[in-house]
Amino acid sequence: MHRLDVVLPAGTYAVEIASGLLDSLGQRLRPLHRQAWAVIADATVAALYGPRLLASLDQAGLPCRLLTFPDGEAHKTLATVETLSGQLLEFGLARDGGIVALGGGLVGDVAGLAAALYMRGVPYVQVPTTLLAMIDASVGGKTAVNLGEVKNCIGRFHQPAHVCIDPEVLQTLPPGEFASGLGELAKYAMLDKAFYEWVEHEISGEIISPDPPCAVPVATGSQPGQTRGPGGSAPWSGPWSGPCLSAAIAHCVGIKAGVVTRDELESGERMLLNYGHTFGHGLETVLRFSRPHGWCVAQGMRLAAVLAVRLGLCDVSLPTRQDALLKRLGLLEPFPSIPASALLAAMQTDKKKHAGGLTFVLPRAIGVLEVVRNVPDVDVLQAITLLQL
Ligand code: NAD
Ligand code: GLY
Repeated sequence: MHRLDVVLPAGTYAVEIASGLLDSLGQRLRPLHRQAWAVIADATVAALYGPRLLASLDQAGLPCRLLTFPDGEAHKTLATVETLSGQLLEFGLARDGGIVALGGGLVGDVAGLAAALYMRGVPYVQVPTTLLAMIDASVGGKTAVNLGEVKNCIGRFHQPAHVCIDPEVLQTLPPGEFASGLGELAKYAMLDKAFYEWVEHEISGEIISPDPPCAVPVATGSQPGQTRGPGGSAPWSGPWSGPCLSAAIAHCVGIKAGVVTRDELESGERMLLNYGHTFGHGLETVLRFSRPHGWCVAQGMRLAAVLAVRLGLCDVSLPTRQDALLKRLGLLEPFPSIPASALLAAMQTDKKKHAGGLTFVLPRAIGVLEVVRNVPDVDVLQAITLLQL
């Protein structure tokens, strides 16, 4: 079992990672002293894991109900939050109740926003079921829905009360969604050079089954909220043993817990977690959400690296080295042939845009990222064109 704490002014919450946790969720929820729980899942995850979760809550004597909505970004809307809120009311959930977000990042965002708004806010617990949600979205309290084509336009920071990660559920995840999670994992590798080098050797897009044995840095024993690894602020000190994927998840969560502890509301360091996202969100819009989030982030990282070279921020070898990692993770393919101007236009609605122009997180080196503001459109267009050559 890996356990990490996210330490915040309003309180600390735990992130637990272990195979089989799903079946003991009821026991884990009891200390939160809620009178009833609504479990929110999308249709696919509800069918796969809803009954197991309800059985676990039943066994712990916790009244519960499963609420579902259809899969997909088209349903990440305020309308879905409103429908779910009506169902919470019908269930009789009061302010002494709680919500479980069972699913990928999309469910976490929607159920998290419902929890933030319902009765002016009730506690919620994240039970992520995609790799992307396990390593990134379930921790840190960002909740949001889209407004038209604008990603995550309406949202709140609302921290979960607990995060429970059971990597066994990844066995049913479609390979494309697993690869999407590896896109966010590559982002964490670009934040931490030692982790990058480990991923380069130990992780590949072939790893679909969780927990094959391998040498791995285990993120146990970390100080709450400290980044681990030489690329971060604390030395790499964990033993090199243990199950591969669980440890990789724990390592990313360790990085994220540290960043969120230091900058909960994204006024500085947390912006670095948006590496690949300015381009990535634009790509999601232009491609009409036909490719998963993490895949778009990976392509966004490629564009960001080319842009960084163009702006003279990093060595020309960086995009090639990053591409090699993305290839290993199954995320390198010809860049989609979309007009550069369409991608730029889609990015103009990004939340990270300021009056003077677009803001990007760009690499200086592997493990060293930087926020760069007011990047001229001409350089952005050039980077997109260069990647399409
Ligand atoms: P997702 O939640 O849309 O899930 C993708 C698909 O996988 C869905 O059809 C889902 O039903 C299915 N699925 C989920 N778990 C499964 C399992 N164990 N077995 C079989 N099928 C399963 O995708 P995602 O990549 O997890 O999340 C993407 C969303 O997360 C985007 O909306 C993105 O904006 C958001 N996000 C939020 C944050 C944050 O910090 N809040 C961070 C990153 C991404
Ligand atoms: N996914 C980036 C963040 O939570 O800040």
